[in-house]
Amino acid sequence: MNEKLDALLKEVEAFGVENDRRATDHAEKMLNITPDTGEFLLLLIRALQAKRILELGTSNGYSTLWLAYAVQPLGGIVTTVELLLHKVEMARANFTRAGLASLIELQLADAGAFLKEQWPESFDFIFLDANRSQYVAWWQDLQRVLVPGGLMVVDNAVSHAKEIEGFVKAVQRIHHYVASSRPSRQRRISDPEREPGPCRRDGWIVYGQLVC
Ligand SMILES: C[S@@+](CC[C@H](N)C(=O)[O-])C[C@H]1O[C@@H](n2cnc3c(N)ncnc32)[C@H](O)[C@@H]1O
Repeated sequence: MNEKLDALLKEVEAFGVENDRRATDHAEKMLNITPDTGEFLLLLIRALQAKRILELGTSNGYSTLWLAYAVQPLGGIVTTVELLLHKVEMARANFTRAGLASLIELQLADAGAFLKEQWPESFDFIFLDANRSQYVAWWQDLQRVLVPGGLMVVDNAVSHAKEIEGFVKAVQRIHHYVASSRPSRQRRISDPEREPGPCRRDGWIVYGQLVC
């Protein structure tokens, strides 16, 4: 990764941590993934050689920067969907600063409505990081838009396990999906002067859609 992108990622990460510490209104929080989640997504996308990425839940675009960096050498593109205008504007500014805007289609939309408008098998890789209570309602369309052999990663699978219980059960009913849960590590604070924050006990579920 080049120094400029590395520095921007650290800056956006630190902004999110500080912002979320102060913000009282949920809609004002950035709720960014941890850097190790970014590295994990990068690894999966490069290994799968996934070119068409869908992210539901952009916030200010921290995770999208990781996804766009992942697809850059593959000639891929990231479509990312966010409901709130002020977050879309922040994300757009971050994409431009990173020099990655041309690889990102940023959609101001409700993810459920957006999914309904997509063609079948439009995406090779889906990162689900939005309103967890809606995942079950989106499941039919998620299946439809994911290519056979594609991967779907669900964030906050440990910290909010109860909230995604229904979704997990719905996926389990479909036999050609296999699941693997992974814990994520403690948040790395980019400012070395700061005390590390409390340990985040979180993780992801990776769903693989088997072709056979
Ligand atoms: C956990 S944050 C996303 C964090 C982002 N992926 C990152 O790591 O930088 C969840 C985001 O999903 C958005 N969101 C919630 N419900 C949504 C919906 N129905 N459609 C689109 N975006 C939604 C929220 O506004 C919020 O910005």
